[in-house]
Amino acid sequence: MRLFVSYLDGREQRPYVRPMALREILVVPDPTLKKVSARVDVVDDAVRALMDDMLETMYAAPGIGLAAIQVGVAKRVIVMDLARAEEPPAPQHFVNPEILWASEETAPYEEGCLSVPEIYDEVERPSQVKIRYQTYHGETVEEDAEGLYAVCIQHEMDHLDGVLFIDHLSRLKREQAVKKVKKQAKAA
Ligand code: NI
Repeated sequence: MRLFVSYLDGREQRPYVRPMALREILVVPDPTLKKVSARVDVVDDAVRALMDDMLETMYAAPGIGLAAIQVGVAKRVIVMDLARAEEPPAPQHFVNPEILWASEETAPYEEGCLSVPEIYDEVERPSQVKIRYQTYHGETVEEDAEGLYAVCIQHEMDHLDGVLFIDHLSRLKREQAVKKVKKQAKAA
């Protein structure tokens, strides 16, 4: 079933017209998060449905980026929305993203992750990257990313290779983070 956009008159325009489903977000130390995700052959309706669900799940969390493996799907698929609260939604979809170039210059950023709830720490990454990916409609595009865009896409692309932002921290910090998340899970 599809809804017409006019159905949404008087409401903030939503980027999708398909009913979506919230997926469960895996948290550390779930071993699935360590899996390397497989490339997507074709961006078809099933992949688009996955991205729709991922965005809905990300908005509900709330977060600004989510990789498919975080909802247990080992495919190289990412969604992001870097719009500020006062801005209209700006969903982005990335299928099979690759980094073509990364600057030598790096910058620190205080990162967090929906799979490592309530933990934030500084990670140093290249401050600019050139990326190539396929869009929601399967077109291949290349883009330059800097600032939060560069941070977020690199964080999400790490997930596709089973790497979490806490893997960039010292072993002690990483173990403390996992311990804290386990403790939260028990208390919930
Ligand atoms: Ni993350």
